[in-house]
Amino acid sequence: MEKMTEGAEADIFKLKFMGLDAILKYRRAKPYMEKSLYENIRISRTKNEAKLMMLAVYSGASAPKLLFATKYAVCMEAIKGIRLDEMLAMKHVNRVKVMRGMGAELAMLHSSMIAHGDYTPANIIVDETMKVHVIDFGLSEYTFSLEDKAIDLLLMKRSLSKKDYSMSIESYARHLESATKTLEKLEEIEQRGRYQDRSMNHR
Ligand SMILES: Nc1ncnc2c1ncn2[C@@H]1O[C@H](COP(=O)(O)OP(=O)(O)O)[C@@H](O)[C@H]1O
Ligand SMILES: [Mg+2]
Repeated sequence: MEKMTEGAEADIFKLKFMGLDAILKYRRAKPYMEKSLYENIRISRTKNEAKLMMLAVYSGASAPKLLFATKYAVCMEAIKGIRLDEMLAMKHVNRVKVMRGMGAELAMLHSSMIAHGDYTPANIIVDETMKVHVIDFGLSEYTFSLEDKAIDLLLMKRSLSKKDYSMSIESYARHLESATKTLEKLEEIEQRGRYQDRSMNHR
């Protein structure tokens, strides 16, 4: 098995599984953290990731198909393509299709009550047809909370340029009936943030 990269919590390996190109995401132990405490986090995040990834696929979103999961690892279909953060760093990228895709995929997740938890270009892979795929469901949740969904919008907004965000949010609103509610919640969160910033300045 070939190690592809090391994330904050997990090592990523490339492998073949039943003839398919697959990715194994193995959550490492953290030597400096108390074992029993982190052990529970490791296990629950792995389990959560496997569940939510499956739920995302069932909901019709473009997410990797789960192949199998163990206590500390999820094995999934490998998505061929380039990460959106890398793509956006290149010149002459046709952004319209990918930005619309990014908004539409989030709308699909939200309509199925899934909040992604880390919806940024680093967790999007764009394939050769410019189709957008969502990865990294480690912090995702099945939730009825508007706030969790609005946080997805906030993260997306902060990680994109103004112009890119306007394309993605326009597509999000077009694909999600209840989009006005999440957008209102986003505004409320941003107001709260501005208010807190102001009161910090007066200290
Ligand atoms: N299904 C996949 N197909 C292709 N590459 C993947 C896949 N899952 C993860 N990767 C690669 O591994 C990296 C880390 O995976 P990710 O799930 O985002 O973990 P982390 O929690 O460390 O951000 C990604 O940025 C991507 O490059
Ligand atoms: Mg990631």
